Amino acid sequence: MRLNVVTTRYTRTAIGLHWLIAVLIIVAFALGWTMADMENSPRKLRWISWHKWLGITVLGLTAVRLLWRLGHPAPALPASVPLWQQKAAEGVHFLLYGLMFAIPLSGWLFSSARGFSVVYLGILPLPDLIGANEELGDWLHTVHIGLNYTLLAVFGAHVGAALKHHFIERDDVLARMVPWLERKG
Ligand code: HEM
Ligand code: HEM
Repeated sequence: MRLNVVTTRYTRTAIGLHWLIAVLIIVAFALGWTMADMENSPRKLRWISWHKWLGITVLGLTAVRLLWRLGHPAPALPASVPLWQQKAAEGVHFLLYGLMFAIPLSGWLFSSARGFSVVYLGILPLPDLIGANEELGDWLHTVHIGLNYTLLAVFGAHVGAALKHHFIERDDVLARMVPWLERKG
């Protein structure tokens, strides 16, 4: 029998996956941004490999996270949060999930189109998602960059909202995702 308990915090698994994936995305983003301006060199190739492995790890962990989330609904927001903000938060979270899939997939498609297969962690060859095609590769590169700029904007709104709740509204929204924070309510 499943009890309908109202929870006030995300599960440990959801919290662990949220922060692990957030760190991996930030490192992958910083690496991608830095390597884009590097001259071709063995160092750049190494960085591109690490970037791909980080991105594929994000893709796998996001799939696990989504499956977990489908069985464990998000805790209700404090009643003080207006309905439009609750809907906005839902929309932002939906977009973030979409980007966590779309960004690594666009990178993988882009690599395949450029004729570079992905060998995960240097040991596990992954299949090419599409055949080599230079024009499509250029377009997918643009898509990969565009999606990353979108992430930057959505990430800014997400973090801004979390910090506003904590420091201005002074409610428990951030504490739902940060277990060591003292609860206010
Ligand atoms: C969390 C996932 C990912 C993030 C946040 C991310 C982010 C980025 C960023 C910011 C750039 C620099 C774009 C530019 O200004 O030119 C980039 C480039 C690139 N990404 Fe990703 N990426 C991710 C996943 C992947 C994956 C899974 C692959 C391939 C399997 C991939 C392949 C590439 C490649 C090949 C480049 C271009 C490198 C170059 O030629 O300079 N990315 N990525
Ligand atoms: C790239 C980095 C990040 C991504 C992709 C991300 C993504 C997400 C997603 C998808 C959710 C919804 C979880 C669910 O309902 O299953 C969420 C919740 C949350 N995140 Fe993030 N997050 C990131 C970084 C951050 C940072 C840096 C902070 C804090 C400053 C933060 C604070 C929160 C909070 C407080 C919640 C719960 C909000 C609520 O329940 O309405 N996140 N995040």
